[in-house]
Amino acid sequence: MNTFETQATDFVSIEGFASTVTEAIHSRHSIREFLPTEVPEPVIYKVFGEALRAASWKNSQPWEVHIVAGAARTELSRRLIDAAKAGDSKPDTAWPAQSPADAKRRMFDLGMKIYGVAGIDRKDKEARDAFMLRNFAFFEAPVAAFITTRFDLNFYVGLDIGCYLNTVMLLARENGLGTCPQAALSAFPDVVRNSLKLTAEHKVACGISLGFPKPDSQLNRFHTPRESSEDLIHLIKTLP
Ligand SMILES: Cc1cc2nc3c(=O)[nH]c(=O)nc-3n(C[C@H](O)[C@H](O)[C@H](O)COP(=O)(O)O)c2cc1C
Repeated sequence: MNTFETQATDFVSIEGFASTVTEAIHSRHSIREFLPTEVPEPVIYKVFGEALRAASWKNSQPWEVHIVAGAARTELSRRLIDAAKAGDSKPDTAWPAQSPADAKRRMFDLGMKIYGVAGIDRKDKEARDAFMLRNFAFFEAPVAAFITTRFDLNFYVGLDIGCYLNTVMLLARENGLGTCPQAALSAFPDVVRNSLKLTAEHKVACGISLGFPKPDSQLNRFHTPRESSEDLIHLIKTLP
């Protein structure tokens, strides 16, 4: 079977709490429909705070986390949606322009599957644009966070922020929550800076939505496939 064909594992339950790291890894996937249920403040602090233990280059910790909830979340979402409708995205770091052919295939496959589950015809640009805009509504999540850095947004800073982000996502699962990491939330950094009163030295690396997953959502049960470990993990014990 081709790795990209629909497999039984394409749909998994996203309810409940993960009690081991392995469970958190297996039950984590991107959530794109959240319940409006508020996340208690101590849980917000726990998830984003514990994740500060993530590793970073020489312990540089090149991140700051700006979390919006309540009225701030609603207003920032409105401003981002307005910016997205106006269309002029200007991320602080360029989004990848080129990808190897196998990655292009995976990305295409992801789009096809998500649109399929969301009931969107791929040729329907209006429906695709409307779905894209949902990024800026944080997929209805009651909490969104923006990760900024005062460092140059270079490769290693990106790695460090990736370590932080993944730790947040796994801690979220331990606390019964879902997440969606979002490059889209870095598309309009001036809107984020102006709204949060951040100086220009704060570069917006990415964002993440956090909340309780909507349990009856097909979109949420969708589990993306992975390449096999035989293809990607190389254990070398003797050299030729
Ligand atoms: C750095 C990064 C940026 C992403 N940006 C977006 C985004 O803007 N919108 C979105 O819906 N998903 C986004 N995703 C989620 C990916 O599409 C998702 O992680 C990938 O398809 C694998 O699926 P899974 O997270 O469900 O396992 C992003 C993920 C990462 C790691």
